[in-house]
Amino acid sequence: MKVCEAAVSNSLHEHWAVPDEVKDGREFILNPPEPELVLDYEIESRNYAKAGKASSDIKLTLKQLGVDPSVLRKIAIACYEAEINVVAHSKGGKMHANIYDDRVLVILEDEGPGIEDVEKAMLPGFSTADELAREMGFGAGLGLPNIKKNCDAMHISSRLGYKTRLNFFVLFDKLINGNTNEQ
Ligand SMILES: Nc1ncnc2c1ncn2[C@@H]1O[C@H](COP(=O)(O)OP(=O)(O)OP(=O)(O)O)[C@@H](O)[C@H]1O
Ligand SMILES: [Mg+2]
Repeated sequence: MKVCEAAVSNSLHEHWAVPDEVKDGREFILNPPEPELVLDYEIESRNYAKAGKASSDIKLTLKQLGVDPSVLRKIAIACYEAEINVVAHSKGGKMHANIYDDRVLVILEDEGPGIEDVEKAMLPGFSTADELAREMGFGAGLGLPNIKKNCDAMHISSRLGYKTRLNFFVLFDKLINGNTNEQ
């Protein structure tokens, strides 16, 4: 019985959130095409002084590229929650933003310790935040649900004792180059 429980808690867990209308969601996340621009960041564990810098930089870059403010807001929220999770819950990791003409794909990969039950982690209110994270104002258990709410497709996979990998993309409603119907 014990062996069985260990096997369950240590298996790979994943969660997909891709609405039906986002037809290429899974394929795009599993096999991302060559981006127009890539932004790379190192995210340090428990470094709250630096936390949020990568997300701000991604937002600023996309703003300069002409992404709509309402879309930028969604991107900033999802990026920030994802970055803070690496700071607060992991041993550190990397964050990349792959920029395309119609979307930004954000990829986070950390050095563990992984998530025991990803479905549970996705539930609003579930948190294992430590004392320091709580002192910093985190730990409501709303980060992952907030990412899901603000992106157009997301995938998270993890396993206890291994990396956590989170991918999500946000579509730009308008094309970056301004090819809209507006005059
Ligand atoms: N990168 C990660 N590595 C390990 N565990 C993680 C990671 N990201 C999330 N988790 C786990 O998932 C739980 C839920 O994450 P979520 O972002 O929803 O809430 P929180 O970070 O605890 O609180 P909040 O985001 O509201 O400040 C975390 O408490 C943690 O147990
Ligand atoms: Mg969080």
